[in-house]
Amino acid sequence: MELLESKTLNNLARAYAGECQARTRYEFMEYGARKEGYACLAEIIDKVAYNEFNHARMFYTYIQQASDKTIDNVEVCAGYPFKEKWDLTENLRLASEDEKKEAFDIYPAFAKVAKQEGFKEIERLFLMTAEVEKCHSMLFEDLFNQMKTGTMYKRKVAMKWKCAGCGYEHTAKSAWQECPLCRAKQGFVMLHLNDNAE
Ligand SMILES: [Fe+2]
Ligand SMILES: [Fe+2]
Repeated sequence: MELLESKTLNNLARAYAGECQARTRYEFMEYGARKEGYACLAEIIDKVAYNEFNHARMFYTYIQQASDKTIDNVEVCAGYPFKEKWDLTENLRLASEDEKKEAFDIYPAFAKVAKQEGFKEIERLFLMTAEVEKCHSMLFEDLFNQMKTGTMYKRKVAMKWKCAGCGYEHTAKSAWQECPLCRAKQGFVMLHLNDNAE
């Protein structure tokens, strides 16, 4: 089967559209986090946004290879959710949910179609991307929980906190409001993530 006439081409276009949306939503979230002073959280979100950019790039590359000629248009029927408000904690939860959907439903289904149509490489692309989205989902879930329970900068047991600005370290149950060395605000304290989350 030619990729140009396949369902897989349409799935690649849907995946591309989904990744572009996810990337933009995360850029919004990063913007909000930075505005609220969560500098280190914003950095983490930015890294995920960059991952989504590269997923989009890979999907786009496979679409390009479907024909030597210009592909004028691929009609895509897909959902375009607009769930987010300017609520950082809630948006982290929504991001985790979206990633879970991609990881466990959408990309495995696309991989199955690609396999049926004989596109082994593209099947692999969808499956590998699904694995990354699983990690993204866990990362966002972890960040959401930390925000919701107030444990981002405060724990039951003493731990080492490190300033991303100047490198100052200190072991205590909670992080400083303002770095004693460089005076950076709490948002510059490096976050503790679950091991499998990033
Ligand atoms: Fe992605
Ligand atoms: Fe993702």
